[in-house]
Amino acid sequence: MRVHEKKEKGECGMTARILDGTKIRDAIFGELKDEVAILASTGIRPGLAAVLVGKNPASEIYVKSKIAACQQLGMGSGLIAPAASASTAELLAIVEDLNRDNDTDGILIQLPLPGQVDTKRVLEAVDPAKDVDGFHPVNLGRLVSGRPGLVACTPAGCMEILRRNEIAIEGANAVVLGRSDIVGKPMALLLMHANATVTICHSKTKDLAEVVRRADIVVAAMGKAGFVEADWIRAGAAVIDVGTNRVTDAREAERLFRNFPARLEKFRAKGNALVGDVHPDAVNVAGAITPVPGGVGPMTITMLMSNTVKAARMRRAKAIPRTISAGGPASSGGR
Ligand code: GUN
Repeated sequence: MRVHEKKEKGECGMTARILDGTKIRDAIFGELKDEVAILASTGIRPGLAAVLVGKNPASEIYVKSKIAACQQLGMGSGLIAPAASASTAELLAIVEDLNRDNDTDGILIQLPLPGQVDTKRVLEAVDPAKDVDGFHPVNLGRLVSGRPGLVACTPAGCMEILRRNEIAIEGANAVVLGRSDIVGKPMALLLMHANATVTICHSKTKDLAEVVRRADIVVAAMGKAGFVEADWIRAGAAVIDVGTNRVTDAREAERLFRNFPARLEKFRAKGNALVGDVHPDAVNVAGAITPVPGGVGPMTITMLMSNTVKAARMRRAKAIPRTISAGGPASSGGR
C-alpha cells in the first residue's frame, strides 16, 4: 500500500539530504567573528541600527534576535523605537540621522510599518551603502546589472545553502515560485548570475506542476503552506523552501502531516505547527531539501550580519590596511 510505504519512509528514513541552515549559520558566524576581530584591530566595530515602529509582537521578536546576533558577534547595535503613531516625516528624520552617524554601518527598518507611513519613501531614504536589507532600488539595480552591492538577506541565504552544500547551479533548470521584490526577484537574478536557467512562476503561471517538474532546483517562496505537492518535484531535485507558515487548522494539518504521525501528534498537542511552502512528503522525492523550521529561516539573520560587516568594510575601507580590506571569508562580493 503506497501511503503506508510512504509513511514508513517518512518516519524511519528520509530519502532527501537535509540542508541544515543552522549548521551553515554556525559556520558563517564563526567566519564573521574572525572578520569582526580583524576590523576591531583597526578600530572599526561594525554597527547595526534597527528601527522598530510601534508594538508588533512578531517584529519585536525578529528585532530582538537581530540585536542578539550582533552581540554574539561582537558588533555594535542600537534600537530606535518610535511610537506606532510615527509619521513618515519623523521616520525620515531618524533615517537621516542614522545615515550621518559614522558608527552605524547598517540600517534596518523593520517591516511592516504602520499604515500611515509611506514605506517606500522611508526605505528609499536609507543610504544605499547602509542598506543591509538590500531593499533599496539602487542595490536592486546593482544586482540586476551584476555590480557589487548589498543583496537581500533571504535570497542571499538561499544561495549560501546551495553553494555550501555543493549543489550544482551552473546549467541547472531553476524554478522560483513567487515574484516578490524581497525574495523571488532577487533570487531569480542570483541564480541567473550563477548560470542557472531560471523560470519565475507566480499566481497566473499555467501548468505550474509541469513547470516545477522540469526543475533541478526549486525555490518555493509564495507563502502558502504545503502548496507545492510532492509529485511536482523531480526525483533528486534540490528544494529550497522559503515558506514559514503557521498552520492552525486541524484538517490542513492532517493533509500536510498524513505521513508524519509524530508531527501530527505534536500539532494536536500544541494546536499549531510551522510548515513550509512545500508539502512535507517532498522529503521522499527530493535529492536535497531545506527543513522548516531550521532551513532558510536561520540564514536571513546570518546574511543580515554578513551584510553589516560587508557594509562596514566597504564604507570604511579607507581606514583598513589593504591586505585586510581585500580579504575575509564572508567578504566576497558579487553574490
Ligand atoms: N519583516 C519581516 N522580515 C523582514 C526582513 O527581512 N527585513 C525587514 N526589514 N523587515 C522584515
